[in-house]
This record gives sequence, C-alpha cells and structure tokens, in this order.
Amino acid sequence: MDTSEQAWSDVDAYLVDELVKQDDALLAARSSAREHGLPPIEVAPNQGAFLALVTRIAHARRVLEVGTLAGYSAIWFARAVGAGGRVTTVELDPRHAAVARENFERAGVADLVDVEVGPALDVLARLAEQGVEPYDVVFIDADKANMPAYLELTLRLVRAGSVIVGDNMVRSGAVIDQSNNDPEVQGVRDFLHAIGTDPRLDGTALQTVGSKGWDGFAIAVVR
Ligand code: SAH
Ligand code: DHB
Ligand code: MG
Repeated sequence: MDTSEQAWSDVDAYLVDELVKQDDALLAARSSAREHGLPPIEVAPNQGAFLALVTRIAHARRVLEVGTLAGYSAIWFARAVGAGGRVTTVELDPRHAAVARENFERAGVADLVDVEVGPALDVLARLAEQGVEPYDVVFIDADKANMPAYLELTLRLVRAGSVIVGDNMVRSGAVIDQSNNDPEVQGVRDFLHAIGTDPRLDGTALQTVGSKGWDGFAIAVVR
C-alpha cells in the first residue's frame, strides 16, 4: 500500500469526487484565491463539507470564523446555516476581505455574511463588549500564536452547547517536536492544553492526512 503524501491527495480527490458537490462558486472561491496570489491554505473540499456537517448537526444559526482568506470555508458555513442564519468572519488583510466579498456575492451568500476587517484580537474583544448574541459554532483558523487568546475571547461569545473547532493542530507532527519553539506551534500546544484542562470545555483532537498534508482538527463543546 502506498502511504505517501501523493496517495493521501489521491484519496482526497477520490473522496471529493464521490461525496463533495462543489458548485461553480465554491470552485471559483479556490481559484480566485490563486489568481489574487493568496496562499493555498483554505480547508480542503471534504474538510469544508465536514465543517458544514458539524454546523448542521449543531443546528447552528450563528457562526463565527477567525481567518477568512478568500471566503471558501465561510461559504460552506453560510450554506450550512442557510437563510435566517448568519456568519461573521474576521480577517486582518483587507485584500483578502475584498476577494472574499466577491466570492460571497458569486455564491449568493453575501447577505448572510459579515466580514469584520481587523486584528481578530480586537474584533473579538469588541464583539464581546457589544454583548452580541452567542455564536453556535466558532471556527478558529487564523494566526496560530494567538490561538489561546482566541479561545479565551471565544468563551465570552458562546453559550453552553456551542461548538468550537480549531484548524492546524498537528502541522506534520511539529506539535510534539520539543526542539520546535516557533510561537505558532507553541500557540497550538497551549490551545490544546486549554481544551484539555479548562473546566468550561469538553474536547478532543483528530489527526488528518490528505491534500493538505498531515494535520488535524480540535473540536470542543462548551459545557
Ligand atoms: N478559513 C479559511 C482560511 C483562513 S487562512 C478557509 O479555510 O477558507 C488564515 C487567514 O487568517 C488569512 O487570510 C490571514 O490573513 C488571516 N489572519 C492572520 N492573522 C490574523 C489576525 N491577527 N486577525 C485576523 N485574521 C488574521
Ligand atoms: C497555514 C495556515 C492554515 O490555516 C492552514 O490550514 C494551512 C497552512 C500556514 O500558515 O502555513
Ligand atoms: Mg487552517
């Protein structure tokens, strides 16, 4: 059996072909990111479908995303919440936000999505101070050094039963490499430690392989 990264990608392609219906707008969200020179780091198509399923299983109406890029994952969330739902997605880079807005228009979800442009630490703190209605699902997928701070702020923006998902928990095993002191890796370690120890959360993490290499998701529910 071939266990190479190429094989992981080939199996992802097979699973996406069998199971993931991407319309032109979802495909365009990926290609537009490349055309505008944005990094190829959006979730894989089957991961987008997975996040949409989590959202539907949670009967979520309000989703908060930290890290928009070109809006690919946000389109999945917007379609999962449907009309009557709302997605707030936070993006530091105004150029990314502009590409994402075009993609939301093309996908027919622009009316469901608020793009908040700015450092997520500031935006999340402001949303908490405003006392916005709690979010049902939160997807944390921006700069990894701030993941513990995003988790702490998120806990002011949720209710019992809300679901928190974190991306990029494994990064080819970097998370357990003791010689790796990269703040991004340490941020992931502290995020996982918080999920494992915070009495407000029940959570776990799963490794993934596929078209994005060897990585993983954390998922937690608010007690
Ligand atoms: N969730 C997206 C991918 C997000 S990539 C998808 O799957 O389609 C991470 C994004 O986080 C990038 O667009 C980057 O500009 C943004 N980002 C990085 N640091 C940030 C910060 N401090 N605040 C908000 N967004 C940030
Ligand atoms: C990177 C960031 C991501 O959110 C991701 O899913 C993959 C890679 C990165 O910064 O390299
Ligand atoms: Mg990611």
